[in-house]
Amino acid sequence: SAASTTDTYEITQRAADLEILPGLKTRAWTYGGSFPGPTIVSQSGRRTVVKHRNELDQPVVVHLHGGHTPAASDGYPTSLILPASGAYDQQRAMSDMAGGEHGMSMDHGAMDLAEGSRTYTYPLDQRAATLWYHDHRMGYTGTSVWMGLAGFHLVHDDEEERLPLPRAERDLPLMIADRSFAADGSFQYPSLDRELHTPGVTESYMNGVLGDVVLVNGAPWPVHGVERLRYRLRLLNASNARLYKLELDPQPEGGDAFVQIGSDGGLLARPVRHDSLEIAPAERFDVVVDFSRYRPGTKVRLVNRFGDGSTAEVMRFDVGSGSPKDGTTVPDRLADVARLDPHRAAVTRDFHFRGSSDGWTINGEEFRPGRALARPRLGQTEVWRFTTNFHHPVHLHLDHFQVVSRNNRAPGAFDHGWKDTVDLRPAEAVEVVTRFTDYPGTFMIHCHNLEHEDMAMMGDFVTE
Ligand code: C2O
Ligand code: CU
Ligand code: CU
Repeated sequence: SAASTTDTYEITQRAADLEILPGLKTRAWTYGGSFPGPTIVSQSGRRTVVKHRNELDQPVVVHLHGGHTPAASDGYPTSLILPASGAYDQQRAMSDMAGGEHGMSMDHGAMDLAEGSRTYTYPLDQRAATLWYHDHRMGYTGTSVWMGLAGFHLVHDDEEERLPLPRAERDLPLMIADRSFAADGSFQYPSLDRELHTPGVTESYMNGVLGDVVLVNGAPWPVHGVERLRYRLRLLNASNARLYKLELDPQPEGGDAFVQIGSDGGLLARPVRHDSLEIAPAERFDVVVDFSRYRPGTKVRLVNRFGDGSTAEVMRFDVGSGSPKDGTTVPDRLADVARLDPHRAAVTRDFHFRGSSDGWTINGEEFRPGRALARPRLGQTEVWRFTTNFHHPVHLHLDHFQVVSRNNRAPGAFDHGWKDTVDLRPAEAVEVVTRFTDYPGTFMIHCHNLEHEDMAMMGDFVTE
């Protein structure tokens, strides 16, 4: 019966006072009272239905990042859930998003309002992967995620479960996110008062909003005890804007601390070894670290080589003293990964991401709800080419893609596997190959620097 193939969840979005910094209270916007929100665990192909009730005092939108999701449940930026308190009417929701005279243009037609709650349906007809859910409200995604609206959604499948990888308490989803705090412990974020949308201020946030405290799963610079065994770390960069270069310090003898087994879209065909990982906002790296390569009692720091001072540190693993037997391995063959052939592409489309004090655009256009930048045919292979004048992590909804080339050469070290977000540095060009499937409707392409996104570096694509 339908009931037996559906998992149902209810999440109440509400304000909560959390102790993030010792002895201080931080008022957070939460999924169900915690930051990160509850980790949802699903089986591939098993429908997951999540009812979100909004007890916050502003509108929200929920997006499942990396989800292969029908348009109606994808979290379009104007598909708002209004506060259950009735504090907002359509007029106020509109004028908020429009951001006054300097804001984005939109018309009533693109609004899709739910009063108090909305039910999202996720078929999850997709591979095992580390997904995450977060707010996606037009003009306010940066604010809402910074305030706490983010959580993991893990999908498992049989192919993955057959592998002898670390599991249970040795399978650690790690959400890395920087934040700033005021002296009283409250989250400090500039655009709460719409500064981001004000000309002259835009320039101060060219790089997005960066924090000076690094949180992992909501805790500052945590310490995690590990045995001298393999661990699977599902690294997610949930920062608004910060790019990290992660390394273990000390490196294990012989290097290659991280054995990458998966990316945004699930398992790689074969493991890839790295000394360091460059991880842009929204990217996921699924890696295995073998702590038996360290001497008993070693304190292993996860550091950020792109940071300095407080942002150079992420967390620490304190290695135990025993020598337990490890039943896990990382096989040389992990998964069947079909390669999409870019030569079979029916269309090549170009997307130019340009940011300046004049505005943040894709192909010269700021986001306007209802205006399609592309109309891909479902089932057709396409090559999408991204270029940029600035640093932008580019993200597509609906389906994952494979990187074909970077700057007309082979894909880079961090481009392996199925991805939904690809990082571009200034003046780079990246080609990806993709095929959108199953769901006709409106989906998003955008920069996942959340301040760039909120400053309108986003567009619709419509599958048909
Ligand atoms: Cu993670 Cu459209 O976003
Ligand atoms: Cu997404
Ligand atoms: Cu950007």
